[in-house]
Amino acid sequence: ALAAVETRDLVGIRIVVTAGPTVEDLDPVRFLGNRSTGKMGFAIAERAASRGASVTLVSGPVALATPRGVTRVDVRSALAMKEALWEVMGADLGRADALIMSAAVADYRPAEQSTTKRKRSAEPLEIKLVPNPDLLAEVGAARTGARPVLVGFAVETADDAGIVGYARGKLQAKRVDMVVANHAQDSFGREDNRATIVTSHGAEAFGVLSKRDLADHILDRVAQRCR
Ligand code: CTP
Ligand code: CA
Repeated sequence: ALAAVETRDLVGIRIVVTAGPTVEDLDPVRFLGNRSTGKMGFAIAERAASRGASVTLVSGPVALATPRGVTRVDVRSALAMKEALWEVMGADLGRADALIMSAAVADYRPAEQSTTKRKRSAEPLEIKLVPNPDLLAEVGAARTGARPVLVGFAVETADDAGIVGYARGKLQAKRVDMVVANHAQDSFGREDNRATIVTSHGAEAFGVLSKRDLADHILDRVAQRCR
């Protein structure tokens, strides 16, 4: 039998991947979260490392094993992910050739975190939320040249045309090179994806792909831009 020979086309390329949800604590036992499982980001990290890249994976709370050869940094909240990201990328972004931002970063966090468990009451409860920073947009705004290559993700509930429209908007607003757009109903928790990759050159729609194959398509395009 022939063993598949892995292409090592990413040797010498430093890739930072974020994955999973961020979790915003309300008190020591409760949090606001989202349905991200981290599978897409972990698949990207796994494929990038297999193809020879030097990979750092900044992950929110997920139930996944660290892919072989990948350096993993675990975080919980959006603010903690921001701190870890800048630490890993360097203040001048000089420590990464590419950032692939597949984490589902919480848009809001509770204005206040209680250090003790909130007690039940018969009254309605209102929780005030404050916006989190846009981690990817901050990196996009700080970038001066073509590096690091920046890839965003967008999970939407819109139809195909709407999804591409939102992705174009995010491409420009966050000043990134590529946005991978997905249907929410086709992505969360699943093994496969139906994605569209949007760049300033246009939109490339893929049929249903495994997360592994989608990861390879994304990495092919990142590799082109790193050369
Ligand atoms: N993102 C980020 N920081 C945030 C929110 C999002 O870095 N606070 C990143 C995500 O990791 C993703 C991209 O921005 O790569 C798009 O995320 P998305 O939630 O689709 O976009 P938003 O700008 O938050 O817009 P909305 O949720 O309103 O669609
Ligand atoms: Ca969001």
